[in-house]
Amino acid sequence: MSAKYGVVILAGGMGTRLKLEVPKPLAPFMGKSLINYVLKPVNNYLKNSKEFGKIAVVTGHKRELLEDHLKSENDLSFAFQEKQLGTADALKSYFDKCDYAFDCEYTIVLCADTPLIEEHVIEKMCNLISEESLDGVAATFKEENPFGYGRIVRSDKGFRIVEQKDASEEIQKIDEVNSGIYVLKTSYIKEHLYSIDSENNSGEFYLTDLFKEGKAVKPLLFDDKSFFLGVNDLSQLAKAEELYKERINKRLMLERGVIVRAASSVNIETTEIGNGTIINALVSIDSDCKIGKNVVIEQGAVIKNSIIEDGVHVKAYSYITDAHVRNSAAVGPFAHLRPGADIGAESKIGNFVEIKKSKLEKGVKVSHLSYVGDAEIGEEVNIGCGFITCNYDGASKHKTIIGKGSFIGSDSQTVAPVTIGENCFVASASTVTHNMPDGSFAISRGKQTTKEGMAHRFIKKKD
Ligand code: UD1
Ligand code: CA
Repeated sequence: MSAKYGVVILAGGMGTRLKLEVPKPLAPFMGKSLINYVLKPVNNYLKNSKEFGKIAVVTGHKRELLEDHLKSENDLSFAFQEKQLGTADALKSYFDKCDYAFDCEYTIVLCADTPLIEEHVIEKMCNLISEESLDGVAATFKEENPFGYGRIVRSDKGFRIVEQKDASEEIQKIDEVNSGIYVLKTSYIKEHLYSIDSENNSGEFYLTDLFKEGKAVKPLLFDDKSFFLGVNDLSQLAKAEELYKERINKRLMLERGVIVRAASSVNIETTEIGNGTIINALVSIDSDCKIGKNVVIEQGAVIKNSIIEDGVHVKAYSYITDAHVRNSAAVGPFAHLRPGADIGAESKIGNFVEIKKSKLEKGVKVSHLSYVGDAEIGEEVNIGCGFITCNYDGASKHKTIIGKGSFIGSDSQTVAPVTIGENCFVASASTVTHNMPDGSFAISRGKQTTKEGMAHRFIKKKD
């Protein structure tokens, strides 16, 4: 059976006003690119409505870059538009290149430059078209300064959309404008798309010509215009980012009970944060993070694709990627948790400590200036200052295992692969190259020799 909805994102335009080398859909937005923020609500809508439709992107300008950027997205098709002859022509490319497109009952059309779109907007449009058996719905909003937008001209016979360049003075005064987001019956598109001409003041094929008086099409006016903010230049991009952040921060504060301090300075992209959590200034948390309850995240921490459990304390300027920090652990200040760092409950990771691909059990302490990579560290192990797992021999990485209850003195190294048993003691400044059985003690430092009165031979006098 074919999908109910086919979705097409028009992304073939040049976007010259952005003055960037990348095509507009790839303009940096929050942690990713504009197009990712259009894809997300569509994906959510299709998933939640259980109408697993297909999504296509019309590419044009620098298509390789766009296709490459989106290659990890599941089930995305691309339709290349050879010449950017207008939005109707872009839609033609979609139907020409995607063989399933005509089989979907409805077609949802989105633009790549409206990153603030949300799934409930699409949902409302889809509900209206099916409830009233319409052929098309265009999302509209009111804009004080409507210059540049297509105007919504309503009459008793229905409505039509008139583009800026074709608008009479009278029509230019209309403040209800076209968002560029539509839901259409696919059979209606099939009947009318191919007869659209380019006889207008731009010489372009306008998709908006599908909306005419006398047809079963309706504008759906939204009160909140922020969903439709278009990004045409970098100042609009900055404004869109501000609005996006504000929206998430508000949800966190009003719906989730999260305390967000200096909200305009933070970059939070997930709403999966538990109540009672405090987020301080200049913190950045990406969309793939999950943060528990009563967590404190101090100033300047950066957290990506990580799970932070309840009661954790992330201290200032820590950098955490692809990591898992368990209940009530403390990390930082200035700690670096790299991919695969799994920090046990109540563990303490201190300043200038780097942890990579290592599992630390409950109550482990690595408090100062250490590197722990490719390791398994048992419960309640205490690692002194300046410890290093020498895990790399220039060709491959090797494992360090330290059993529970062991004590590793400061300024020690383990040369992996090596296993230290449970309840061992490594004297400070030791280099451990051989396995240690449970309960053993190791020391491997040079013996100290002290010569009385000899220091003056080595102390250089400054002139
Ligand atoms: C369009 C609408 C206008 C609406 C406005 C909202 C038309 C004719 N006009 O105008 O009524 O108010 O959006 O922002 O549709 N694109 C292609 N191929 C092309 C041309 C455009 O893929 O040949 C893509 C662009 O990359 C962009 C989208 O279509 O993502 C919209 O095109 P754009 O040129 O920005 O249209 P507007 O002039 O803004
Ligand atoms: Ca536009």
